[in-house]
Amino acid sequence: MSSSPKTPDRKTSRTRPAGGPGELDPADRAAARRMATDLLTFLEESPSAYHAVAGLETHLQAAGFQTLDERRAFDLEPGGRYLLQRQGTSLIALLPGTAPPSRAGFRMLGAHTDSPALKLKPHPENVSEGEITLGIEVYGGPLMATWTDRDLGLCGRAIISSDGRKLESRLFCSHRPIASTPNVAIHMNRKVNEEGLKLNPQTQITPLLGSLAGGLPEEDAVRFVLAKLLGLPAQQIVDFDAFLYDTQAPTFTGWNEEYIVGGRLDDLTMCYAGLQAMLDAADKPSGATRILVCYDSEEVGSQTPQGARSNFLPHALERIALALGDSREGYFSALAASQLVSADNAHARHPGYADKSEPRHAPRLNGGPVIKVHASRAYATDAYTAALFERACRRAGVPFQRFVNRADVKSGGTIGSMTAAQLGVPTADVGSAQYAMHSIREMAGTYDPWYMRKAMAAFLQEG
Ligand code: CO
Repeated sequence: MSSSPKTPDRKTSRTRPAGGPGELDPADRAAARRMATDLLTFLEESPSAYHAVAGLETHLQAAGFQTLDERRAFDLEPGGRYLLQRQGTSLIALLPGTAPPSRAGFRMLGAHTDSPALKLKPHPENVSEGEITLGIEVYGGPLMATWTDRDLGLCGRAIISSDGRKLESRLFCSHRPIASTPNVAIHMNRKVNEEGLKLNPQTQITPLLGSLAGGLPEEDAVRFVLAKLLGLPAQQIVDFDAFLYDTQAPTFTGWNEEYIVGGRLDDLTMCYAGLQAMLDAADKPSGATRILVCYDSEEVGSQTPQGARSNFLPHALERIALALGDSREGYFSALAASQLVSADNAHARHPGYADKSEPRHAPRLNGGPVIKVHASRAYATDAYTAALFERACRRAGVPFQRFVNRADVKSGGTIGSMTAAQLGVPTADVGSAQYAMHSIREMAGTYDPWYMRKAMAAFLQEG
């Protein structure tokens, strides 16, 4: 189930699993802890996929990555640092290698920027008895009950126009609670603890935004709020993609702060680990061209202009190969010499639901990266790509674990299999172990993002 280069003693691993932060030396432990602290900041600043991509861009630009524009020819230097984004919610970072891609291929990391959420309808306001509630649509598959009794903020992007012609995209975030979906009292839902909280998203997920008596206008209250957040006249707001989010800040928990809790750990922890691995790799020259792709739309099937089923990555890779002196023929040779690690979080063995996990493939928090396998290929991993990733873990001195579903359980999917099919590139699906996937507040291990970053950096460096 789990393996580590540092723990040959099988007897101790039975009572205390192999690997984990207990075996880190103090300097590594401190580095892992520092990275987790920075990750919490990134999570807090990324309430939506728009904000996540903006945050990734800021980190990359600070490290000297130049922004490419898809509308213009790519002008690339071997050894340079570049990034590009599409629709504001998907991003590619690239480090051209010292050899052309046709010779050394692409080494790629993938993750996703979106998370389940509640999205406002175009006309979200419903006025009832002087109070304004918000009409929502469900984005992806949230654990809906966790969205009740939360201090919800509003975030996303608005399309604005100051002259009625030119359209501009602007991000907004309330940075404070401005809505809430109160539970119904147990006295009015007596069987809730036996039967679970069942919620109709049309009629029962109706966050309260405020009241007319409190000063909200009867018409277009959301535009009124967005205008205040953006510091613009309401008539300049043409349209918006607005999401509710949990304003409670992510934090450490556990006596020794060995866990982190917060929203969108799936999959922003892997975006962040990929970012750090790219920054680590940027200082080490390599023949291969190294790529990080962070896709939007994973939670809704990836069938968007910027999702994993789109031409975002294939077109970018072809243009990168051409800009680095390869022909189209050379681009196809490059793909045949390439590898991808797709990182999306995995289910840890839950102490209260242990029978939901496959006994011999039940990952734990802080046990290192999880390699995910599925016979019907919801995960792209096969023995070869698993071996490639295991080799990277061993070189990095990082423990790793295996995940496979119980044979009687249906698997989730991820971007790995889609990207693998798009490109024809051998792909490993991996991720950090976590609890409460798709809850408004998820839980993961403090040390796992650092383990993943080390393994990813070793993977980028090989070959
Ligand atoms: Co995910």
